[in-house]
Amino acid sequence: MDDLKTGGIAVIDFGSQYTQLIARRIRELGVYAEVYAHDSGAAHINRRQPAGYVLSGGPSSVYEAGAPQLPAFLLEVGRPVLGICYGMQLLTATLGGEVVAAPEREYGPASISHQPLSPLFDGLAPELQVWMSHGDRIESLPPGFRMLAQSDNSPLAAIGQLERHRYGLQFHPEVQHSPSGRAILSNFLFQICRCQPTWSAAAFIEEAVTGIRKQVGGERVLLALSGGVDSAVAGALIHRAIGDRLTCIFVDHGMLRLGEAEQVARVFRQEQGMRLIAVNAVESFLTALTGVTEPEAKRKLIGRLFVEAFNEEARKLRGIRFLAQGTIYPDVIESAADSAAAKTIKSHHNVGGLPADLEFELLEPLRDLFKDEARKVGEALGLPASIVWRQPFPGPGLAIRCLGELSWERLEKLRAADAIFTGELADAGLLLEGTAQSFAVLLPVKSVGVMGDKRSYEEVLILRSVTTDDFMTADWARLPYDLLARVSARIVNEVPGINRVAYDITSKPPSTIEWE
Ligand code: XMP
Repeated sequence: MDDLKTGGIAVIDFGSQYTQLIARRIRELGVYAEVYAHDSGAAHINRRQPAGYVLSGGPSSVYEAGAPQLPAFLLEVGRPVLGICYGMQLLTATLGGEVVAAPEREYGPASISHQPLSPLFDGLAPELQVWMSHGDRIESLPPGFRMLAQSDNSPLAAIGQLERHRYGLQFHPEVQHSPSGRAILSNFLFQICRCQPTWSAAAFIEEAVTGIRKQVGGERVLLALSGGVDSAVAGALIHRAIGDRLTCIFVDHGMLRLGEAEQVARVFRQEQGMRLIAVNAVESFLTALTGVTEPEAKRKLIGRLFVEAFNEEARKLRGIRFLAQGTIYPDVIESAADSAAAKTIKSHHNVGGLPADLEFELLEPLRDLFKDEARKVGEALGLPASIVWRQPFPGPGLAIRCLGELSWERLEKLRAADAIFTGELADAGLLLEGTAQSFAVLLPVKSVGVMGDKRSYEEVLILRSVTTDDFMTADWARLPYDLLARVSARIVNEVPGINRVAYDITSKPPSTIEWE
C-alpha cells in the first residue's frame, strides 16, 4: 500500500556496494526504504514523500572531475539527510567544506568516541566500535557543522548541522562490523526523521501482490521453480496474486541433490496446490555439458538450456507472456546487472545467463530483497519451514560443485557424499540453524590413499560450511571436530571413488561460498 511506503527513507546511490544493505537495514527497523540512482531526478526520488534521505558511499572522490554530484533539491526540501562515507564527503564539499585525500586509506575496524550533542548517538556508550573504508577525509567543515565523533585516524568520524538535521558518518553503520550501526540508524529514523515503523513482510506482500497484478494484468506466468527458497517464495507470492494463472516449471537437470526432485513435486503440487509441470531434462543437459569445465561457460550454458526448456514448455502451453524468477538482490549485484561499473564476479544463473532475445517478459518480485527478507516473506505467506529455512542452492546446482568434467557417475558420487554431510549436520541441529550453507564439492583431483591393504587413487571431496547473514560476506563454520571426523569416515567408507575429505577454511571474501 502506498501509505506504508510514504514517509519512508530514500537511499540515494552513489555507487557503493553497500547501498542495498543500507535500505535493508532500514527496512529491518520497520521503515520502508527504497534505493534511487543519484541522478534519477527530484520528482522520482520524492514520489513517495520520504521523511529523510540517506546518501550512500561510493568509489569516487568528490574532488575528481565527473564525480557524482549531490542532487540540488536535497538541500532545499528541508528534510533530514544522513551522508555515509562518500555521502558525507559530498555533503561537506557541496556546503563549502573541504575534502582531501587522506595520507593513508583507513580500512577495517576503528574505535570512535562521540560528543553528547546530537540525537544520532542517543543511548549509546561513549566509545563505539565501527567499520571504516575510505581513502578521503574531511579537512575543514562547512559553515554550521560540528564534529560529533572522532577516531584516532578520523578527527571527523561523524559530523552534523543539528538545526538543519544534516548529518554525516565517515564509517559504515550498515555493515555487521559496526555493532552500534543499527542503533545509530534507528536514531536517525525515529528521532531525527520521525518515521513510523510500519514496514513488514506483510506490508511487502500486500504491495507485491498489487504490483504483480498490475504488471501481469490478465496474462499468464511461468515460474522457474527450482525448489530453493527464492523461487519457492516467488512462486507462493505470485500464486497469491494470480492463482492458477501461474504455471510452475520444474526442470530436473540432473544436478539436484539427493531426493530433491521428488520433494519438490510433493510440496508444490500436493501441499501448495500449485500447477506444476516437471520436466526431465537430465540427458539433454548432460549431453550439452560434456567437456565443459570452465565455470562461467557452465553457468552460461545451463542458463541458456534452462531458458530453452522453458520456451519449449511455454510453446506447448501457449499464450504465456511472463517468465517469473526468484532473483534476489545479491544475485543482481554479483551479476553486475545493475551497474556497468561493477565487476562481474560470477554470472548468476537466474540473471546473467539470460539472452537478450528472451521471448518472455521477466517478473522478479523479490529483486530488491536479501535472502533473510525473502525468508520472512515466505513465512508470512505460510510456506513450510522445511522450504523457507532450507539452505540456498544455486541455480546451476551441483554442476558448479562438481568441478571439472561433469558425468552422471561423478554427480552421483557428489550427491551421496553431500547427503551424508548434510544429514549429519541436520542430526546435529546445524543445518536449518547454525550454518547458513553447507555442502560438498567434488574436485577433479585424485590423490593416493590406502584402503584395506591396497593403494587407492581416487577423487578428493571438499566440505564447505559457512555462516553468514547476507551471503555477501561469510565465515567458515567452526564445526565440531567429532562431527567432521564422522562425516569424513562415512564418506570414505560409503561412497566409492572418494578417498580423501578436506574442510574448506576460507572466508568470503577472499573466496566465494561456491567453488565455481
Ligand atoms: P557465492 O559463491 O557468489 O554465492 O559466494 C553467494 C550465494 O549465491 C548462491 N549462488 C547462486 N544462486 N544462482 C543462484 O540462484 C546462481 O547461479 C548462483 N551462484 C551462487 C550461492 O549458493 C550462495 O548462496
